[in-house]
Amino acid sequence: MIVTLKGILAVNTNAFSYLLPGTGSHVASWWNDLFSFVMWVSIFFFVLLIGITLAFVYKYHHKKVDKVIDSHGNTSLEILWTIVPTILVLFIFAWGWLVYKKMHRPPAGSFEVRVIGQQWRWKFAYNNGKNTVGELIVPVGKRIKLLMTSEDVIHSFFIPDMRVKQDVVPGLYTALWFEAIKPGEHVIYCSEYCGGLHSNMLATLKVLPQDEWLEWWRTQEKTERDLSIPPEKRGDGLAAKYACTSCHSLDGSALIGPSFRNLFGRTEKLTSGKTALVDEDYIRNKILKPNSDGVVGYPQVMPSFQGQISEEEIMDIIAFIKSLKD
Ligand code: CUA
Repeated sequence: MIVTLKGILAVNTNAFSYLLPGTGSHVASWWNDLFSFVMWVSIFFFVLLIGITLAFVYKYHHKKVDKVIDSHGNTSLEILWTIVPTILVLFIFAWGWLVYKKMHRPPAGSFEVRVIGQQWRWKFAYNNGKNTVGELIVPVGKRIKLLMTSEDVIHSFFIPDMRVKQDVVPGLYTALWFEAIKPGEHVIYCSEYCGGLHSNMLATLKVLPQDEWLEWWRTQEKTERDLSIPPEKRGDGLAAKYACTSCHSLDGSALIGPSFRNLFGRTEKLTSGKTALVDEDYIRNKILKPNSDGVVGYPQVMPSFQGQISEEEIMDIIAFIKSLKD
């Protein structure tokens, strides 16, 4: 059994890779091996059973056989086709369980990054105080442990290339880990339906060579604003950085929230029955206390940016919204 298994594994290494996403981690290659094994077993039994069926169709064709054979079971055959699949299925289970166990427990000494899921973006917080939104930046060849929670509903953090997926639950920490085997970029999905823009809840995993990553890790985030750029241009970048644009379109179409286009100067109907003129103060208030009095026709799901965004940045975003006028 073991000898033939080794043979199978030697053959299968890349046979089915076209069916799978990229292979970005050791965990991924372990899963690939198991997947290939299941594929080879399936192909073997498919060929065997269809082969026997066709042979019987040929051998017992009515033109060749004129007498009906009345058959009533075959004990040794029944024992064989009970025991062989049982062993195979248990073997596949044990293999899967071993990989799952390795995949599920972050090894001690892993490099930790905290992940916060929020409708509809992924935020990452690093141990040196760095924060990123929509971009997880890690070094190659290091075990990365993600400690995850959600600010609102259940999300699911999924990196297909790493073959890791884990629910991200409010009021609970869940974890997963991976070790990237080469530098590159991989897509991160939310794989649990979490509301209107679930399908927009994407992020990028950037795997950098160790020296490049260290350079990123050490550089202080440029906090002062680049004053050579006009404020509305800075605001444009900030709207993307804070993922405002995943809920507010720039072209006038309504997404989860009102579009930014032609927003400034408009009068909005509020759920309290009042109306409000969209001016600088209104926008600032919406960024910091979004759900104090919602706009009619839109769900009250906007997260507060209190404590995350500076007053200067709010001013730049306001300038950007002002600039979006037809
Ligand atoms: Cu978050 Cu789907």
